[in-house]
Amino acid sequence: MGSNKNPVPPPLPLLLLGAQCVGYETLLCQLLGNGIGLGACALELDISSYLKCPPGAFRQQLGLFLLFLDLAFLGSVTMLLHRAVIPHLRQACRLKSAPSRLYIRACSTDDSLQPQCPSLAFSGDNSSTGGWKVMGTLLGLGAVLAYHDHRCRATQESPHVYTREEVRSHSSPETRIWVTLGCEVFDVTEFVDLHPGGPSKLMLAAGGPLEPFWALYAVHNQPHVREMLAQYKIGELSPEDKVPSTLKTSDPYIDDPVRHPALKVNSQRPFNAEPPPELLTENYITPNPIFFTRNHLPVPNLDPETYRLHVVGPPGGQSLCLSLDDLYKFPKHEITVTLQCAGNRRSEMTQFKEVRGLEWNIGAISTARWAGARLCDVLAKAGHQLCETEAHVCFEGLDSDPTGTAYGASIPLARAMDPEAEVLLAYEMNGQPLPRDHGFPVRVVVPGVVGARHVKWLGKVSVEPEESYSHWQRRDYKGFSPSVDWDTVDFDSAPSIQELPVQSAITEPKDGETVQSGEVTIKGYAWSGGGRAVVRVDVSLDGGLTWHVAELDGEEQRPRKAWAWRLWQLQAPVPAGRKELNIVCKAVDDSYNVQPDTVAPIWNLRGVLSNAWHRVHVHVAP
Ligand code: MTE
Repeated sequence: MGSNKNPVPPPLPLLLLGAQCVGYETLLCQLLGNGIGLGACALELDISSYLKCPPGAFRQQLGLFLLFLDLAFLGSVTMLLHRAVIPHLRQACRLKSAPSRLYIRACSTDDSLQPQCPSLAFSGDNSSTGGWKVMGTLLGLGAVLAYHDHRCRATQESPHVYTREEVRSHSSPETRIWVTLGCEVFDVTEFVDLHPGGPSKLMLAAGGPLEPFWALYAVHNQPHVREMLAQYKIGELSPEDKVPSTLKTSDPYIDDPVRHPALKVNSQRPFNAEPPPELLTENYITPNPIFFTRNHLPVPNLDPETYRLHVVGPPGGQSLCLSLDDLYKFPKHEITVTLQCAGNRRSEMTQFKEVRGLEWNIGAISTARWAGARLCDVLAKAGHQLCETEAHVCFEGLDSDPTGTAYGASIPLARAMDPEAEVLLAYEMNGQPLPRDHGFPVRVVVPGVVGARHVKWLGKVSVEPEESYSHWQRRDYKGFSPSVDWDTVDFDSAPSIQELPVQSAITEPKDGETVQSGEVTIKGYAWSGGGRAVVRVDVSLDGGLTWHVAELDGEEQRPRKAWAWRLWQLQAPVPAGRKELNIVCKAVDDSYNVQPDTVAPIWNLRGVLSNAWHRVHVHVAP
């Protein structure tokens, strides 16, 4: 039992090549010029590219498709020649004086290599032409179906069978990397480097079943993921190995908290959800139960009595091990901060071109009043100071995957040590202990910075010369040019996202809604990263031709410390006779940064930083 990735031999290409050698081609070339010869060359080309394609690659499917086209064509021509044309030719040779002439047009390779439909005709015998064409088509179709049937039967009849022991022995690039799902065996060696979660995550399953990992990262349980995996199938598990005893894994999410039913769930496991737009801007402060939730792993269930935060001291200094009571002893600092996920509004990028990630609408953003100890006070207590050289404060969560790898992220030390930056080790959210989904008992809040750095269930803080080595710092949450794809992306080439760009969105009316004629009320939010205040929100009812300035609500913003969003609204007359409105909004921050008008120039493969003008199309009631 080898590691052959394609257990079904491709016999038909060989047959056809054989057919090509038995003389039809020569005979035809002599009789009819080189049309068929060129067609055969085209076929050979397609077959060889098919055979050369790496299994599972798109080129294989393309090669297969071209092969089918060629089979349809060559099948029909070969059969016609065999059954019908040759007797006619013989007859034609006998009746040298007869006026009938035969034309066969085959694959032309002269200028394009594009196969063309064959046409067969006897001049002077129009009545039979249609019949030949139909027969040719049917035979061609027959060839395709027969080949397909052959492959299917070959697959069904003789899947390679492997034992679990054999699968286990394929767990490194040297031995090739195999995994199982259900009773199927896959060779994913070529896919490891393409794994969106990083090669190391897929390697955790090398030589074994995928199920325990898919239970943790339920995002895999989607048809397109299964389809992709199917391309790497090499066989099946032997019957006695089909039910793995080790698979009775308990549900890692069983202990997750109960959530509010109003949340729009993007993924249950791990839990990711956003408030519906109409609730999002009901209140300036988002109520805790509907604050958007972004979890990468199961929610840890931490005991506040035994909880400890480890703060690693500087070399020669003293590390701290802080209980909640110890944290309460630091001066309590309270601020209003908006948190936004880098993937907010990703669904609009997906509409333009596919990206990998959760389909967030406009609600991966919320605002709360956070209270806790300032990070700069805690770091100072541990003996840390601002240093000349670049340094980073690394955070580790207490949520972890089956290997014990915790969620982690980092921010520059300069921001962490700056009292004006107001980075918090928060233990309260809107006057309550943090809810479990939002980091109970302690999380980091980094005002003006992307949500990914606000590490929840905080377990450890350390100061390092380099950024966190966490996957979420180095291999995710980075922006790239629209031209970069998963084959060319180099995550080391881009900085990790920290401050987010200016953002705004319309929460009312909703896309597709019918509004009353007369006057329309439009509501939304606007926010900018890095403490930059929103100074204006422009709203258009005609797709951006003319603009109104919206009224800004909510708290006044402090210069350079505008950590929270502004809610805004506009009452505007609906122009008489309009049947529909293309409502658009865009915000301007105090650095005069504005949002780009379309998604295309900011599209990126992870669908982050989606902040193009937000557009809503509504109908006007007659
Ligand atoms: N911290 C831990 N420990 N684990 C996580 O999965 N998710 C991050 C961040 N902190 C995450 C985390 C991301 S990507 C975001 S956007 C915010 O938490 C979301 O915070 P929220 O769920 O309280 O809204």
